Amino acid sequence: MSRFAHPAGDRHAEVLPEDRPPHVPADLNTLDPTIWPRTAGRVDGSVTIGGADVRDLVARHGSPLYVVDEEDFRSRCRDYREAFAGGEVHYAGKAFLCREVARWIMQEGLGLDVCSAGELAVALSVGFPPERITMHGNNKSLAELEKAVEVGVGHIVADSFEEIARLGFLADKHGRRPQVMIRVTVGVEAHTHEFIATAHDDQKFGFSLSSGAAAEAARRILALPQLELVGLHSHIGSQITDTAGFEVAARRLATLLVQIKEEHGVVLPELDLGGGYGIPYVEGDIAPDVKEIADGLQEIVTKVAQTAGLPVPRLTVEPGRAIAGRAGVTLYEVGTIKDVEGLRTYVSVDGGMSDNIRTALYGAEYTARLASRESTAEPMLSRLVGKHCESGDMIVRDLWLPGDLATGDLIAVAGTGAYCRSLANNYNYLPRPAVVAVRAGESRVIVRRETEDDLLRGQA
Ligand code: LLP
Repeated sequence: MSRFAHPAGDRHAEVLPEDRPPHVPADLNTLDPTIWPRTAGRVDGSVTIGGADVRDLVARHGSPLYVVDEEDFRSRCRDYREAFAGGEVHYAGKAFLCREVARWIMQEGLGLDVCSAGELAVALSVGFPPERITMHGNNKSLAELEKAVEVGVGHIVADSFEEIARLGFLADKHGRRPQVMIRVTVGVEAHTHEFIATAHDDQKFGFSLSSGAAAEAARRILALPQLELVGLHSHIGSQITDTAGFEVAARRLATLLVQIKEEHGVVLPELDLGGGYGIPYVEGDIAPDVKEIADGLQEIVTKVAQTAGLPVPRLTVEPGRAIAGRAGVTLYEVGTIKDVEGLRTYVSVDGGMSDNIRTALYGAEYTARLASRESTAEPMLSRLVGKHCESGDMIVRDLWLPGDLATGDLIAVAGTGAYCRSLANNYNYLPRPAVVAVRAGESRVIVRRETEDDLLRGQA
């Protein structure tokens, strides 16, 4: 080996990180109910979801396969709606949206957040009521804004001065008066159970509160009578497990509400605190209780409004992951198994960073199990990897799998319902897997598997 060759580092075959060696589970067959879909279980050793056996699912629909537990998804919608009964719950479509999911959201009585013309088109194509849709995005095109104004989406969240001017023009053109919110950058960034509250706002989203840009946005919107300013919006991050960051955000937003009242005599009736509610991915992760989060947020907003001498605004939240995440499981077939002496066993499956890029992109952690049978073999320290031409192509970096794992076995990865299909890509010309919904023992394709024809379509 050349002495100039770089040593295996972070992205290569480094040994177990000392700070988080995965602990050896007592039983490799269990399915932690806080991580797996609500209907998941084992029948005769094989994992079932929504009453469907994973072996039958793969036999019928192929592998890899995204499986969505419809009951899990819908029941989480209901949990959120009930917990936030006094306010509004908008599902953040970016987590995972397709026509069938839009129907579920509609039937469960939630609103929907979209952030592109494409997401809006999916919703409108199934008759989603436009007044229950909010349009987001830091760089909405003129065409996207025009579509939103034309179809009459319920709220448009203004993210820049250019957009405010464009909205004024479009509202005139279409003879409509859209309800507008201001995306405020409050200087709070939250991830998991940590948050940082800062004064500077070094990011592309929204109007900074501390620089006065948010107050100026209010001035400009209020100066355009064809726009109706209804509230403030903030989104502080994702995979958050407590309410501390939201409290700081709400307090900061209240200062702007007060300023707008004093300067313009206008009391804004709505406050949207965005999404970001975390889910457990691996054993030991916190599983925040939706009721506790909801009660906490409602209390915070009430307290903050009262302290500021304002009427309590109507609260909107925008969960994506917390609704879609746990409903989804990805099934893969095991291919190559390579033992790297003294280190670990590399278990390669038939998908990878094209169907789940979160591990490569964010260092995300997942729980995976041998799903097509039970095993009592000794645990084997493994790394679950994909089939792409890249060493960073990992699905689960460190996990224990049974030592008798064999080619043809099926592996299930939990918690893949959010930001996996929606971030999926065709790296190495892999067709994106199908999405099947399972319920009461039945499975149906809600997004079909891509074919080679799909991959070639549109090319000269
Ligand atoms: N509302 C707004 C304005 C957002 O930007 C987002 C997510 C949400 C709601 C929903 O957040 P959730 O409840 O799902 O955390 N691709 C990353 C997550 C990016 C989130 C972007 N914004 C991931 O895979 O973890």
